[in-house]
Amino acid sequence: MPLLLGVNIDHVATLRQARYARTPDSPNAEPSPLDAGRDALAGGADSLTLHVRGDRRHMQDADAFLIRREIPLPLNLELGVTDEMIALALKLRPEYACFVPESREEITTEGGLDVRGGFDRVRMAVARLQDAGIKVSLFIDPDVAQVEAAAETCAEMIELHTGCFANAAGADSETELRRLIDAASNGHAAAMRVNAGHGLNYQNLTRLWPVPHLAELNIGHSIVSRAMRVGMTAAVREMKNLMTTYPG
Ligand code: PXP
Repeated sequence: MPLLLGVNIDHVATLRQARYARTPDSPNAEPSPLDAGRDALAGGADSLTLHVRGDRRHMQDADAFLIRREIPLPLNLELGVTDEMIALALKLRPEYACFVPESREEITTEGGLDVRGGFDRVRMAVARLQDAGIKVSLFIDPDVAQVEAAAETCAEMIELHTGCFANAAGADSETELRRLIDAASNGHAAAMRVNAGHGLNYQNLTRLWPVPHLAELNIGHSIVSRAMRVGMTAAVREMKNLMTTYPG
C-alpha cells in the first residue's frame, strides 16, 4: 500500500485570521483555505485535515462545511474531546475524525491525548462518532501504554505524534525513532491503522522510514510554508514524491 498524505491546511486559515477574523465568504478574507484545499487536491493529496479549535484561532466552522461540500477528498477533522466539537463533527460528517488534546495556551497541539488517563470520556466520544459512521483516530504519543488504551476504545486508527522525533538530534533521535517503531508495531498488532504526524518536513521525513506499518502522514506547517515559495500544488507534489520512497 502506498503511504498516503493528509494535507493539513489550518495554517492557511491562520494567515487569514491574522488580518481578517471574518467568515470565509467575506470579500477580503485571504488566503482561502478552500483554494488551498483545491490546490492540494491537484498536487495529489489523499485527504485534507483541518482542526476546528475551541478558540477558533484558525479554521472556522464555516470553513469546514465549505471544504466538506466543495472538495471531493476524504476529510479528516481534528477535534478536542468536548461536547461542542462532537456536535460539530456529527453535523459535518467527515470521513475521519481525530481526537487531539487541546489547551488554549498551546501554540499548536503539543502532546498526545492521554487515552489511559481519560479512558471513559475518550471511549464514549469514540463511540458517539462511530455510531454516525465516522472512522475515529486518536492522536497519541508513541507510548505502548497509550497504544493499548487506544485499542481498548475500539478506535479504528491511531496517529502517532512525531513532534519529539522531529525535534530530536543525535542519540535522542534514535530513542524517538525506537519509540515510534514500538508504538507502530503494537498498533498494527492490535489491528489499528497507524498514521503519524506533527513536525514532519521535507528534511526529516525519510528519517522516519524505519517505522513500519505507516498508512498515512498528516503534514501541515512545512507544506504551507513551502507553498509560499512554489505554490500549494507543487509543494504537495514534492511531498508526495518524497513519500514514494517509504519502504512499507
Ligand atoms: N497531526 C495532528 C494531530 C496535528 O494536530 C497537527 C498540527 O495541527 C499535525 C498533524 C500537523 O503538524 P504540522 O503542522 O507540524 O505538520
